[in-house]
Amino acid sequence: MSDLTGRNIVITGASSGIGQALAIEAAQRGARVAIVARRADRLATVLKRCHESSPSSTMVVADLSELESIDALASTLIDSLDGRVDVLVNNAGVPKRKRTDQMTADDVEGVMAINYFSPVRLTLAMLPHMLERNSGDIVNVSSMGVHMAAFGVSAYSASKAALEFFTEGLYVELGKTNVRAHLFVPGTTASEFSTDKPGNNAPFPSDPAATSTSEEVAIALLSCLETESFVTYTGEREAQTSSKRNADVNAWLANMRQVFTGM
Ligand SMILES: NC(=O)c1ccc[n+]([C@@H]2O[C@H](COP(=O)([O-])OP(=O)(O)OC[C@H]3O[C@@H](n4cnc5c(N)ncnc54)[C@H](OP(=O)(O)O)[C@@H]3O)[C@@H](O)[C@H]2O)c1
Repeated sequence: MSDLTGRNIVITGASSGIGQALAIEAAQRGARVAIVARRADRLATVLKRCHESSPSSTMVVADLSELESIDALASTLIDSLDGRVDVLVNNAGVPKRKRTDQMTADDVEGVMAINYFSPVRLTLAMLPHMLERNSGDIVNVSSMGVHMAAFGVSAYSASKAALEFFTEGLYVELGKTNVRAHLFVPGTTASEFSTDKPGNNAPFPSDPAATSTSEEVAIALLSCLETESFVTYTGEREAQTSSKRNADVNAWLANMRQVFTGM
């Protein structure tokens, strides 16, 4: 496992779940973290844990759906880390469990704002800072919702698919620089994500044998920083599912349609 001593890491969505586990793990490995989310009390509890190993870590309370505020947020984050961000992890995200025939335009635009436009804005705001120093890593957190079947989650999967292609563009375009873009794809993870949420249908029943802890996922995410490969999954299970789908998407989706609808 990599030592992160001396590295400054911004982590969005760090008040719970994967982001919380990631902040604590990164701090324990020596990083200074700047954590972002809306719930100040929860963020403060996470920061307290980070301070046990990384006393100069900081927090910024922000609503990432306020897209016009993101440039200012980026400046605040860079200042809070004494002018240097080495790693940006765009982890904050929301579910949208709704069938397409029940969905409103607001549903679609709301999930796109948090899951696509906000990480894109934060990336665009931080990229000049990284390119100027010719150093940095940007990790964008997607979902197996893009690599399974978009059943009952089409707007969510679309928001993450958009993020995947944005990240792919960065990965390819940044080839000649020392700034790296990474795509991280978690599978089902125990967190507040799969709980009842307003504006969402009930969570899907999850298989405990196919569910990772947030701590396991955080460790997998940090392994992105050690590879030149574009995509990192939580583990072999997720990587194999994705490659089966890619091998024959027509057969895969015909089977998924049969499983979900009996047709
Ligand atoms: N859990 C899974 O099964 C799973 C599977 C695949 C992918 N993922 C992805 O993994 C990432 C982390 O999810 P998780 O499982 O850790 O879920 P989680 O426990 O619900 O965490 C989501 C985080 O995002 C933050 N967030 C949401 N809306 C925000 C907003 N408007 N402004 C600022 N922060 C906001 C939340 O903080 P506040 O509410 O305090 O703002 C929270 O810290 C998400 O991108 C999700 O799509 C999760």
